[in-house]
Amino acid sequence: MEGSNWVVLSEPEGKIYVVELSDGVTKIKGIGVIDTKATLGQLMIGDSVQLGNKSFTRVAPRLPELNKGMKRRAQTISAKDAGLFIAKLGIGPGDRVLEAGLGSAGLSMHIARSLGDSGLHVTVEPRSEHAEVGLENLRRAKEMWPQFPTHSHVEGFIEEVVDDIKKHSDSFDAIILDLPQHVPAIEAVAPLLTIGGRIACYCPVTSQVELAWKACESAGLVVEWAGELMERKWGMASKGGMRPVNGAFGHTAFLLFAYRKQ
Ligand SMILES: C[S@@+](CC[C@H](N)C(=O)[O-])C[C@H]1O[C@@H](n2cnc3c(N)ncnc32)[C@H](O)[C@@H]1O
Repeated sequence: MEGSNWVVLSEPEGKIYVVELSDGVTKIKGIGVIDTKATLGQLMIGDSVQLGNKSFTRVAPRLPELNKGMKRRAQTISAKDAGLFIAKLGIGPGDRVLEAGLGSAGLSMHIARSLGDSGLHVTVEPRSEHAEVGLENLRRAKEMWPQFPTHSHVEGFIEEVVDDIKKHSDSFDAIILDLPQHVPAIEAVAPLLTIGGRIACYCPVTSQVELAWKACESAGLVVEWAGELMERKWGMASKGGMRPVNGAFGHTAFLLFAYRKQ
């Protein structure tokens, strides 16, 4: 937000830099060596600045900007799939959401934005080098957004830390699993799903979605939907008109949603 300790800059072609203002001179990859407070501190959203031979515009720290400018380590879930998770799980203010693994927090940022102040978001991650990146992305979002849920992070493999998760809430309205192996996680956390709550799995390959389907049914859940969402971007054609842009028409993952009816 304007007046906060952060400035989000955009290059003309859309590359985003999220900069924390600090005293003294700092080296920022892609920008250069600058005194962030003195150079950027007075910029208003929409103002432009020339730094070396590059021009930057200060932009609002909204979800698309923080997502584009996030630190990355593990593979992240894109807006395409995050949007379907939020919609099909019905995530909104006041909900309690359990998510594993945190990774770089690509999905977590979408969840946090949807929950607002009144939600509870519990993340789980066994690898500290991933959690470090993911938690830094969530810290930025918390400091820049007007609302942010109560967030707790639990270190470990989700199937081994159920008692620690329960310290934050003993039931959840939504659970999202982006893991290499869903079955032990589903077996461990399906009992935490409240009646009317839903669990979702992000499965890059078909064997994962099949195993997740069977594990959800064994856990007494009703599979509501499984499949993938295809995205095809369009652009202006050089000789006029619009058409799908050149490039890969790729696969991200299969998504599965299951419901606790009783
Ligand atoms: C692909 S990344 C998650 C990316 C994240 N959804 C995002 O959008 O940034 C998968 C993460 O799951 C973690 N993981 C693997 N097994 C796990 C388990 N049993 N419980 C919790 N996290 C696990 C990995 O360490 C890794 O960081």
